[in-house]
Amino acid sequence: MSELSVNHLLGIKYLKPQDIQLIFETADHFKEVINRPIKKVPSLRDITIANLFFENSTRTKLSFELAEKRLSADVINFSASQSSVKKGETLIDTVNNILSMKVDMVVMRHPNPGASVFLSQHVEASIINAGDGAHEHPTQALLDSYSIREKLGKVKGKKVVIVGDILHSRVALSNIFALQMQGADVMVCGPKTLMPRYIDKLGVMVETDLKKALAWCDVANMLRVQNERMDISYFPSTREYVQQYGVNKAILDGMDKQVTIMHPGPINRGVEITSDVADSKQSIILDQVQNGVAIRMAVIYLLASKIKH
Ligand code: CP
Repeated sequence: MSELSVNHLLGIKYLKPQDIQLIFETADHFKEVINRPIKKVPSLRDITIANLFFENSTRTKLSFELAEKRLSADVINFSASQSSVKKGETLIDTVNNILSMKVDMVVMRHPNPGASVFLSQHVEASIINAGDGAHEHPTQALLDSYSIREKLGKVKGKKVVIVGDILHSRVALSNIFALQMQGADVMVCGPKTLMPRYIDKLGVMVETDLKKALAWCDVANMLRVQNERMDISYFPSTREYVQQYGVNKAILDGMDKQVTIMHPGPINRGVEITSDVADSKQSIILDQVQNGVAIRMAVIYLLASKIKH
C-alpha cells in the first residue's frame, strides 16, 4: 500500500491496519531525517497548514508545529482564547475565514467529541484530529504504538494495560482501537467509577487490581486523572487513588520482570506515577514525545500527498 485509505485523520477507528503500517514505515524515514544535522526536508513547500487549538495543549501543539516546519510547510497558529470565538463566532465561520486564506490542511483540537468529523463534512481542507473531547486522539495512539514497536520489536502479541481515568480519556479509546488493530492484548485498569459504561463492548479485559494488571502486562500506559473533566467526585480522595492506582518504584522493584512504563503527558507526578518511575530506565515517556514528531510528519506527509491542487 502506497497511500492512506482516508483523506482525513479523524480517529483510529476509521483506519485500516495497512494505514498504520504505512504511517510507521513513513515515520521510520522521518525519524532518520530529524536525527540528521539538517533536520528539514522540502517535501511540503506548497502546503499551508492551520493549527486550530480550542483547548489547551503543550506536547501535541508543539509537536505538530515542529513536524510541519520540518516538512517546510507554511504554518499558521490559532488559539481560541485569543480569537473572535470569544465574541461568539461559530466553528464553521471561524474555519471558513481561515480557509479563505488558502489553507490546505487543518489540525484541530476541540473540547467537543465529533468536532473534527463535523468539520470534515463542512470544509474542503484535509482535517487532522488533535484530540476531540473524550472521543479520540489518533496521533497520540499512533506514537504510543510506534514507541512500543521501537522498544519491544513489535506490537502484535504484546500485553498492554491502560491504567487510570479511562472514562474521560480520548487517549485510552484511540489506544484500544490502535492496539487491537495491530494484534496486541489490551487490558484497562482503574476504579469502576472511572470505567465507561460501554467498556464491555470494546473487547478489552477489565481489572480493578493494579498489582494483578502489572503482573499480567508487558507495557503499562499510565493515564492522568482528568480533574478538569470531572463535575462530581469519582473516588474518595487523591491519597486513596494514589494508594490503589499509583505506580511507584517499590511496586516495580518487587516484580520479577521489567514492565515498560508509558504516559501520554501531562504527568501528575506523585499521583499516577512517582518521579522516580517517570524518570527511570523502564520509562519511555520522552521517547514517546520524540516519536510524536516523526509520526506527525508521516501523517501530514501522507495526507498532503492526497490533496489535489
Ligand atoms: N498528550 C497530549 O495530548 O498532551 P497535550 O495535552 O499537552 O497536547
